[in-house]
Amino acid sequence: MSLIIRGAHVVSPKEKIDKPLELHIRSGRIAGLYDKGKAPAKIDPDAKVIDAGGLVLTPGLIDMHVHLREPGFEYKETIATGTKAAASGGFTSVACMANTFPVNDSASVTRYITGKAEKEACVNVFPVGAMTMGLKGERLCEYGDMRDAGCVAVSDDGRPVMDAAMMRRVMEYAKTFDLLCISHCEDEALAHGGQMNEGAKSTVLGLTGIPCAAEEVMVARDVLLAELTKCRLHIAHVSTKGALRIIKNAKKRGVNVTCETAPHYFMLTDDDITDYNTNYKVNPPLRSKEDKKAVIAGIKDGTIDVIASDHAPHHDDEKRAPFMYAAFGISGIQTVLPLTLSLVQSGVISMSDLVMKLSCQPAGILGLAGKGVIKVGACADLTLIDTKKAFTLQTGDIVSKGKNSPFIGRELKGCAQAVFVSGKRISI
Ligand code: DOR
Repeated sequence: MSLIIRGAHVVSPKEKIDKPLELHIRSGRIAGLYDKGKAPAKIDPDAKVIDAGGLVLTPGLIDMHVHLREPGFEYKETIATGTKAAASGGFTSVACMANTFPVNDSASVTRYITGKAEKEACVNVFPVGAMTMGLKGERLCEYGDMRDAGCVAVSDDGRPVMDAAMMRRVMEYAKTFDLLCISHCEDEALAHGGQMNEGAKSTVLGLTGIPCAAEEVMVARDVLLAELTKCRLHIAHVSTKGALRIIKNAKKRGVNVTCETAPHYFMLTDDDITDYNTNYKVNPPLRSKEDKKAVIAGIKDGTIDVIASDHAPHHDDEKRAPFMYAAFGISGIQTVLPLTLSLVQSGVISMSDLVMKLSCQPAGILGLAGKGVIKVGACADLTLIDTKKAFTLQTGDIVSKGKNSPFIGRELKGCAQAVFVSGKRISI
């Protein structure tokens, strides 16, 4: 089956492409890339032609921080519903975190996920295995087995590895298998069971605050341990100015560290928490205006390599609770693209920077060969974007089972028009 995408403006920074091109796809791979008027006149008579005039075509977007919740929490999300939401958000690949039930801490759970994904996922699913058994921070998992079963990284995301000596072992062992360590940086003692950012707003609302230092001391520790072990370290969901200062400095010193943020950290602050709306409850918490400014600066200057959703769908019952008892998390996979496009619209980054942070760099950091590129012979994972379509996000638009988004009711501009996984158009 062949496919022709005609009229799109192609943005693929790895190949330095930023111009209109006609794309020919055959047997799931990119077969030709032609300048206007240069495409062969003779085409496969069965080829399906897509008119993509006015749209932007990019390498398939990759969300490297997603909670698909399966196995165990299928009432929140499943591999089928989570990947459907991913496709609607413009993503052709996702990396799914290990805080499932059972935890993805063994090759058999990893194989359960990849097996299910093969049958039920509409986009590529790359499991992230746990660093420690049961995410308890006490015993290492069998990284070699898990890597052979399909894990692309290890992380106890959702929980920090509190013991520094244990984290050192995690990094040393991960390095043996060339596995990326994705660190959830939170000092539990400093976070002290808090509910939101520590500051004037937490005092006004009477909620326990989580200081920025709870994140920063762990970022500093993990950077030092990565320096010691020479392990590849990726800091998840960075939310503070201080954490970015540490990461920027570490990068300058040559430490093998990368990081991501999520759109809520460049769009919202703790001041947005009004009426105890639990859709704003997330971990790390929404921070101050100064932190938000620093996150935007980090995206602009390249300290932040990746923008990921930290898609954390929850059941209504877990969010319809007093703020203190509600679950942490934002169902965000469908709003990453429009919210990141807002940074392009306001001139903070270029479209090519957006593609770097939503496709090329996640592919590079996770080591996904052949992803994040548009070149002849590569797998045809592609995203077609309408950068101009304006809409107001409604609960009913959210494809994920988790409707817990603070962006409901917000005017957004730009969204995915189509996604192709190995040349196959996924209905969105
Ligand atoms: O808000 C969050 N929710 N942060 C995390 O680190 C975990 C996630 C979840 O699994 O719900």
